Amino acid sequence: MVKQVLRKVLGAIGSLYRTVLNLLLNNRVFKYRYYRLSVFLATRGIKPFFSCSDLGSKRRWKEQGDDGAIDVPETYVGEDNSLAELFRDVLPYLDKQSPVLELGCNVGRSLDYLYRHGYTDLTGVEIGPKAVELSKTVFPDMYEHSRLIVGDVTEVIKTFAKDQFELVFCHSVLVNIHPKHNHIFKDMARISRKFILILENEGSYNAYPKDFKKLVEKQGYKMIVSKVFTGNCACLPMPYKEEHIYKNNTIRLFVKDESGL
Ligand SMILES: C[S@@+](CC[C@H](N)C(=O)[O-])C[C@H]1O[C@@H](n2cnc3c(N)ncnc32)[C@H](O)[C@@H]1O
Repeated sequence: MVKQVLRKVLGAIGSLYRTVLNLLLNNRVFKYRYYRLSVFLATRGIKPFFSCSDLGSKRRWKEQGDDGAIDVPETYVGEDNSLAELFRDVLPYLDKQSPVLELGCNVGRSLDYLYRHGYTDLTGVEIGPKAVELSKTVFPDMYEHSRLIVGDVTEVIKTFAKDQFELVFCHSVLVNIHPKHNHIFKDMARISRKFILILENEGSYNAYPKDFKKLVEKQGYKMIVSKVFTGNCACLPMPYKEEHIYKNNTIRLFVKDESGL
């Protein structure tokens, strides 16, 4: 009896919370201010109020492809023009044998893009086992010649050696990493000997939007490319029409400060 009442009360609090949240976030001014506050907090390692927990985020991505899960790895199979745009500025500086690491590679479409362009030393880390499983069938050659690791990047990244990779990159991943793991920026800088490349929807106000330029530059890197990508991109989670927030899919290329570029 007590349990039933408790469950009802908790259910009612939950739906009231969701209703208030939806009402607030339907207001563009509120949403924009909230977004700015979220960036401020998440850059400093604090979870924005309405973003989900670390566990919730990891569970969501780990369970992708399972029955009833919100996300399916098939979403990330198709190549879109974000990949050409992402790599355009860095590939001229990379030898085909350069070791490259992708964080949150999903089925590995970006790695496959690099593989098809002749890059041979490719590593990816992905938390969703079903995504890596699918990689074997959709990108068999790349899969066979690369190293795809199933695991949580916030942990796996610690196992790589200093300067192990020429390029460390990710595509739409860092906004999904809880700010308590902001050490990931330090680790990215530690394991890359030259380049860090990111594409993030920096307006993802309901995830963990951060000041990525600040977080990477703090690690002794300087930003040499910054461009807003407005083309088609499979992982844009929100409608394009609210441009003040969502037209914010930004590609940033950083180089280690001492490299003299
Ligand atoms: C929006 S998807 C982008 C997928 C891929 N980068 C692409 O562009 O095709 C975000 C990816 O990050 C992965 N991810 C999120 N949190 C992760 C974590 N803690 N460790 C490893 N992968 C993670 C998800 O499983 C998912 O594959």
